[in-house]
Amino acid sequence: MDETRFDRILVTAALPYANGPIHIGHLAGAYLPADLYCRYQRLKGRDVLFICGSDELGVAILMRALEEGTTPQAIVDRYHPMIRDSFARFGMSFDYYGRTTSPVHFETSQDFFRWLDEKGVFKLKTEKQLYDPEAGIFLADRFVRGTCPICGYEDAYGDQCERCGSSLSPTDLINPRSVLSNATPELRETTHWYLPLGDFQPKLEAWIATHPEWKPNVLGQVRSWLQQGLRDRAVTRDIPWGVPVPEDVARRHGVPAEGKVLYVWFDAPIGYISATREWAQQQGDPEAWRRYWQDERTRLIHFIGKDNIVFHCLMFPAMLMAHGEFVLPDNVPANEFLNLEGHKLSTSRGWAVWLHEYLEEFPPDLLRYALATMLPETRDADFSWKEFQQRVNAELADILGNFVHRTLTFAQRFAEGRVPPLRNARPVDEEVLRELATFPERIGSAYEQFRFREAVQETMNLARLGNKYFNDTEPWHTRKTDPQACANTIHVSLQICASLSILMEPVLPFAAARLREMLRLEGVRPSTPDGEGALGWDDAARPLLPEGHEIGRPEILFTKIEDEVIERQIARLEARAQQAAAKTDGPPYAPLKPEIVYDDFDRLDLRVGRVEKAERVPKSKKLLRLEVDLGFEKRQILAGVAEQMAPEDLEGRRVVVVANLKPRKMMGLESQGMLLMAEDREGRLVPVTAESEPGAVVR
Ligand code: 2FM
Ligand code: ZN
Repeated sequence: MDETRFDRILVTAALPYANGPIHIGHLAGAYLPADLYCRYQRLKGRDVLFICGSDELGVAILMRALEEGTTPQAIVDRYHPMIRDSFARFGMSFDYYGRTTSPVHFETSQDFFRWLDEKGVFKLKTEKQLYDPEAGIFLADRFVRGTCPICGYEDAYGDQCERCGSSLSPTDLINPRSVLSNATPELRETTHWYLPLGDFQPKLEAWIATHPEWKPNVLGQVRSWLQQGLRDRAVTRDIPWGVPVPEDVARRHGVPAEGKVLYVWFDAPIGYISATREWAQQQGDPEAWRRYWQDERTRLIHFIGKDNIVFHCLMFPAMLMAHGEFVLPDNVPANEFLNLEGHKLSTSRGWAVWLHEYLEEFPPDLLRYALATMLPETRDADFSWKEFQQRVNAELADILGNFVHRTLTFAQRFAEGRVPPLRNARPVDEEVLRELATFPERIGSAYEQFRFREAVQETMNLARLGNKYFNDTEPWHTRKTDPQACANTIHVSLQICASLSILMEPVLPFAAARLREMLRLEGVRPSTPDGEGALGWDDAARPLLPEGHEIGRPEILFTKIEDEVIERQIARLEARAQQAAAKTDGPPYAPLKPEIVYDDFDRLDLRVGRVEKAERVPKSKKLLRLEVDLGFEKRQILAGVAEQMAPEDLEGRRVVVVANLKPRKMMGLESQGMLLMAEDREGRLVPVTAESEPGAVVR
């Protein structure tokens, strides 16, 4: 961190919706990197405040309540403690974990809204929206269903058709109906407050331009939003669950306040501020929050997943700019998505590893470490149970655990459980101590640059260095031939263990504490908000254990995971996915098209063709170029299937071709026909095949 510019760091991790438990995708996206960063910075001795909390308002929570036939309050009261506790057991070192249903949050977001309103920042717009006359409320997009005007699917949502993927607006739907009462909604006028993001675009652009150091995946998304041009965003909603629009503000504009709340993406990021205020109150210094939010020497960093980029890089900064009294984020190191066993994580399909369930079976450190090695930092990444097992067994147990164990066992057996003196150090001893001295800086620089995978790899490299040194110096031989050489090996290895116990702390806080206990190493500053200590990150560069220092008994730091245990996890995952599939009988079937007569069909000329060659079209994600033999002639056909099929899946197959389709150019190539494909409800494609001679007529 640039200490000439900053005195303190305020770190936020996205407030998770309190409508379900935390899974590994959440951890990999925002929470684990945020925690690694904060723990590292605290060990560096920096002033860090780490803020998070539950996002408890808005449509997502309300929907969940409706699905379960309960109240939104009951939903958040169930999930908030569950999320908070599983985070704590996982070792998330928040200074404060709040919730957005708290009175301080209501007041803070209302004050923020009022302030912007008084400054004339908002535009008010009156528009017609769907209203449920039976339930007596306006219907948010997700509360209206009806027939999709594009594909005819009868159960499309007001904002999107799940079948054809089209983005919709509730008034596009044919035969709309209210999800709440099934009544036909009416159009009624309603007034909303809009944040004119477009007006902020020049300021936002200038500000983003001052941050060329942001991660490319983040800048890429931000630039694409800016390129499309920012549009006004409504920051109020007509739903019965949220922070009410302050009555005085509504009155000033002659708008009825009843039933109007702040949009969840307006209040949620303000939740970071409210939680900081609550933290300050808890410290007995109610104004202390200002230091973190209003002093330019604060470095604000938002850890989020990629679906939150627009809100944290454009919308919230625009709100903060408009307000005028807050610092802007200095970095938003968003991660991409984590897949599980090669498939997208999906809570509705039961395809997830839930944190609270994981913690019933394994220690937190194992997942912290394994996930840290697989973080989706620059592109989507994959978590697999096999890789988890491999990381634990081959790295934590065989490298780190083994090094610590053999060092401590040797020290107990051959040095009376004390740090032996280093005398007549050999070049190999000096060399390894010199190398040890470079690790805090090396690992630290990776943490500073949000390169967590690298930081964790470098940490393991120190244990690798220790093992190599131990092997090379062969203390089991020198014990008999050259006792001082043996003592030197034990001395240096113990020093590496001591440094490791600090440097591994961000990723393996529980094991690090146990290692320090075994070494009886005291005075290390905690990486959590509480307590003090004289020793920190940089001290790990030098030998920390004095000659003659007594150490404790060695214990096993990491136990290997058996194959059966991993197989059980995989079986559980698959069983869960099957259950979920059985429950929801899958996505809907495509609706039937209107009836046709035989002559309509007869206009198609369908032929059997043999795919002689298939290859990807350069620079196209979707297209395969096929050479198809129709018996009487050869055709070039472009098929938009490259995302679902490899060229080998088609080469050599006899397929059905629409042979009289007008040729069409794509990517500069002419397509002279079309292949018939069957598409199932999950969007998987297979070619329609026919074991007949090329040229045969299909009818
Ligand atoms: O995507 C989500 O889970 C949101 N609840 C994140 C909110 S982050 C912040 F703005 F509060
Ligand atoms: Zn549709």
